[in-house]
Amino acid sequence: MRAEVESQAHDLEALAPTRLRLVVDGGKAGELRVRADRGFLKILLTNLIENAVEAMEHLDSGEIRVELQRHGRHAMLRVHNDGDAVPEKLRRDIFRSGFSTKSTRKKGRGYGLRFCRRIALAHHGTLNYDESDLRPGASFVLTLPLERERRARKDSRHE
Ligand SMILES: Nc1ncnc2c1ncn2[C@@H]1O[C@H](COP(=O)(O)OP(=O)(O)O)[C@@H](O)[C@H]1O
Ligand SMILES: [Mg+2]
Repeated sequence: MRAEVESQAHDLEALAPTRLRLVVDGGKAGELRVRADRGFLKILLTNLIENAVEAMEHLDSGEIRVELQRHGRHAMLRVHNDGDAVPEKLRRDIFRSGFSTKSTRKKGRGYGLRFCRRIALAHHGTLNYDESDLRPGASFVLTLPLERERRARKDSRHE
């Protein structure tokens, strides 16, 4: 998954204006194998990064970090951007269909996060606003079950 994310992030660099840096941090995660539809995963990542870019429009410079790590039986991908956090009272609403705080002149129509969460759920994963991230800015976290663990569970059922 790391190689995937890195190559996708490379493609996505074009989305970020030059004043913004896009950093992929695979940490010590090693290669994480997940079973996922490549196209949908790309849509999900693209949406999160586009949102991050849009959230930093008012900044002179800033950074988007895509961090990948292993969390128990899951691969965990976090997209963090500098700027403002999503206000606590909106953290549920932002995942609703048609909810957007962006002006309608822009392409934002409020379906991005809803669709991203659907993609995560379809892969037995989750997508949430990351309340536990204490850095200034906004952070979204995707979890997807690791393939090996799922296969291991299946195998043990057959034994
Ligand atoms: N990285 C982010 N930083 C701050 N707010 C965000 C971020 N990503 C999403 N949001 C908020 O969530 C809302 C819904 O996002 P989304 O479903 O992608 O719709 P849209 O981008 O079309 O507005 C946005 O309008 C914005 O208020
Ligand atoms: Mg969006």
